[in-house]
Amino acid sequence: MIKKAVIPAAGYGTRFLPATKALAKEMFPIIDTPTIQYIVEEAIASGIEEILIIVSANKNAIMDHFDRNLELEGILKEKNKTEELNIVTRVSNLANIHYIRQKEQLGLGHAVLCAKAFIGNEPFALLLGDDLYVGNEKPVLRQLIDKYDQYGGSFLGTLEVDLQDTSKYGICKPESVLEPGLSLLSSVVEKPKPEVAPSRSAIGGRYVLSPTIFKYLENQERGAGGEIQLTDAIKRMMTEEKVFSYDVDGKRYDIGSRIGYIEATLDFGLKRDDVRPQVIELLNKKLKELDQK
Ligand code: G1P
Repeated sequence: MIKKAVIPAAGYGTRFLPATKALAKEMFPIIDTPTIQYIVEEAIASGIEEILIIVSANKNAIMDHFDRNLELEGILKEKNKTEELNIVTRVSNLANIHYIRQKEQLGLGHAVLCAKAFIGNEPFALLLGDDLYVGNEKPVLRQLIDKYDQYGGSFLGTLEVDLQDTSKYGICKPESVLEPGLSLLSSVVEKPKPEVAPSRSAIGGRYVLSPTIFKYLENQERGAGGEIQLTDAIKRMMTEEKVFSYDVDGKRYDIGSRIGYIEATLDFGLKRDDVRPQVIELLNKKLKELDQK
């Protein structure tokens, strides 16, 4: 049973400067909802009960977002803004959310290690805040948890990427295919150049990990980009325990990139009944304007 999840949200967000200078990128809204709220909701919809968010200085807005805001609630009540009041109170009742500060940004592996005491000795889910998913049929994390329930071990949610993009991801080396989309891995490499990439199967920001990972993170040396990489610790863990990749069924948005963010905004706008007609109208208008140029 996977009941705990970790969401690292301590990075600098350098791909999104200057906005990230004072604002946590996890708080950037898609339409009207911060990206981290979608991720928390994915975790809850996947059966998670306790969530640890790893934060750093400058990320207080995340804690405020999931906290109650009694002043705002009072004003909304006074003005009979029931719908808005429900939106605000729902967010603060979403889940049991805990926080810990990563004091130095030494890499994803180091951030995950900060969760050791919270996780203890049980397998857990890891959701990266940059990767926003819309799962087909089931939430993407639930898909991984279902496979974990069947096979045990650790699971990396994967997607196939273009060869020229392998240097942006952790890339898997499959050893054998157990069922369509599910492979036992013999290695993983963080951000390999296309010439040396073992496959095009990339880690997409969703994991189910065995607590054994902490043993390896504790003495993990710096890797790609001079950072303590989670991927390197997962690779070392493979000598002791099984690690699988599973091609998740859903659409992924890389919210940490400008174009991924724009695509998410458009797609979510097109999906939501309340704004869809205006978004379509706007898109048609913009396309016509471009045609006339
Ligand atoms: C991290 C991981 C990488 C993974 C990626 C998915 O990299 O280190 O293995 O493929 O997330 O988004 P980052 O994007 O934080 O550099």
